[in-house]
This record gives sequence, structure tokens and C-alpha cells, in this order.
Amino acid sequence: MEEIEVIKPDDWHVHFRDNEVMKAVVPETTRHFARSIVMPNLIPPILNAKQAIEYKKRIEKAIPPTDSFEPLMTIYLTEQTNKEDLKSAYNIGAVFAVKLYPAGATTNSDSGVKDITKIMPVLEMMGDIGIPLLIHGEVTDQNIDIFDREKVFIDQKLDFIRREIPNLKITLEHITTKDATLYVKESNKNLAASITPHHLALNRNALFVGGVRPHNYCLPILKRENHRQYLINAATSGNPKFFLGTDTAPHFVHDKESECGCAGVFNATYCLSIIAQLFDNKGALLQLENFISTNGARHYNLNLNKEKIKLIKSTQALPFRDHLDVEGHKIKIFKPDFPLFWTVDK
Ligand code: DOR
Ligand code: ZN
Repeated sequence: MEEIEVIKPDDWHVHFRDNEVMKAVVPETTRHFARSIVMPNLIPPILNAKQAIEYKKRIEKAIPPTDSFEPLMTIYLTEQTNKEDLKSAYNIGAVFAVKLYPAGATTNSDSGVKDITKIMPVLEMMGDIGIPLLIHGEVTDQNIDIFDREKVFIDQKLDFIRREIPNLKITLEHITTKDATLYVKESNKNLAASITPHHLALNRNALFVGGVRPHNYCLPILKRENHRQYLINAATSGNPKFFLGTDTAPHFVHDKESECGCAGVFNATYCLSIIAQLFDNKGALLQLENFISTNGARHYNLNLNKEKIKLIKSTQALPFRDHLDVEGHKIKIFKPDFPLFWTVDK
């Protein structure tokens, strides 16, 4: 049996939702992770310090007593976000980072930003005091091909923001393309990127295997194999600009398997097994700790976690649970169609 020990990982992009779903999904993350950045796209969204503090308390109640876990809260940037309110929310520690959703880009993003120039004063303040900006990097123009929306966002929006405010700390979240990978690699130290397990594991063929596969539908949408290879190379390279953000995004099976299926992959349960397997397949297990445990913390100027976890490789492919049950409704747990031999020893 092979095993490796790494610093306890952090997940830099999580959707916990609220209420009963939240209670069911939080333990799936807190079991293995020390900290997570929690997305604010609830209905209604988390817009201010008070809402972030209350949401954090609800999350904390859902953490099993055996787990030690810190949720890092975000607020949802709108064209009405008040600079002074945000500054004080950050200064009192209620908010760790700010999330930019272009309006209409994804699940619950209707209150997002339509015109970037309207938020520039807020972004300047964030650059000055060091509040990180987390970006869903896709344009929302329906005339732009869905597979090109990330690249067009980089060319038209991200590059503009970075040129105007080079001191702003930015995470380009859940990157999916060669273009994003190269852009981030070549940028200054203030830009980094998170990568999800599903974008590392799947290419766009996984959307259509014998028929349409709604459980592999997420945003940004899966891309060609060539792009996936760039993501794998970036993640396994040890380059400190790339780190894990799972974008674990629970939706009920009946909402995914519908006429207008929701975007999102619920991957919290086996994400570390998947990542370890991908790194193993690439002969890059030595870089695993950088990707899941240290690169992100360094980008956000946080201490590394003190605890460690052990990953164990078994000789046989592991059995996995299919669903999480929430009051009789199912959430499908993501598992790619290749065998997984790695598991977290707990
Ligand atoms: O696939 C996605 N699901 N992408 C997002 O950006 C949002 C997320 C969600 O909230 O379900
Ligand atoms: Zn997300």
C-alpha cells in the first residue's frame, strides 16, 4: 500500500447553499478541508457584512463537532456595492473576499455586474487595502460562442481591470482553457487561478456520451481535451499561481435532469481522491501538496495549516456512494468514469 502525507488542504471555492442542503453538504467539505472560500450566490445573494456574518453562523452550526474548519466569507459585488461599507466589512473581518459575477453568467448571477466601469472605484479601494477579487471569468453576450466566453472575458474585461489596477489581488476562478492558463502564467504576482476537479478530469465529450449528460454540465462549460491538458500541466507543475478551488455546487437531481438543467457539479465528497488519482496518473504526486494545500494559502497571504492528512492508495479501485440524500431528494456525487484508488485516511 502506498501512502502520502500532506498539509491539510483548503478549498478556495465552495457553494454551501443554505438550509437543509447546506446542512447536508457542509460535512462533505469539512471532513477533509481546513478552510474554504464560501460563494455568496444565494437567493437573495450575500451583499453586506451583516448577511455574511449571519450566513457564517449558519454554516458553523452545520460543521460536525469532530471537524475543525473555517469558512471564509465573500460578498457578491453589484453595481450598487458601497465602497465604505465594503471597507468596514473587511476591516471587521466579516468578509474575506469579493466575488464578481458578470450579470447572467451562471447560477443566481442576475444581480451581478453589467458594466465593469461602474465598479472601478470599488476595485481601486480593494487594491489599495488588499481585498481579493474573485472572478467568474466569462462574458455573458449570447452572441459569443459558449466555448469562447472565458477567452473573450480575459481579452475584453480582465485585461482592462488588471491594466487599470495592477495592485488588485485577483483570482480567476475555475479556469478551463489554454488561454486562461497562459494568461495567468504570464501575469504579475497578483493574479492567480483556481482549477476544479471536474475540469481536470473531463473534457467536453463528457457532456455527450451516448446522449446528453446533465450531471457534467457546469459553468464555465467543459472544454476540448487540448485545454484540459493545459489545466493538468498547470496544476501538476507546482507553479504557485494555480491551486484547487473545487466549485462544488450541489443541485438536486430533479433540477439537473430537467428541460433547463442547472449548471454545477457536486464534487466535495471525492474531490481529493480524484485529484490524487490525476496527479498519480501524471507521475506528479510530489506536486500534490502545492496544489491542494499551499499555493492558495500563499496567494491569499494566509498561514499554512498545521494539521496533516494522509492519502492512501489501495490495490483495488474503491467503491463510492452515488448520492447524498436531502429530505428524500438526491444530490448526485461526482465521480469520473476512470477508477480511483486513492482515499483520504480518516
Ligand atoms: O457550474 C456552476 N455552478 N458554475 C457556477 O459558476 C455556479 C455554480 C452554482 O452555483 O451552481
Ligand atoms: Zn462557483
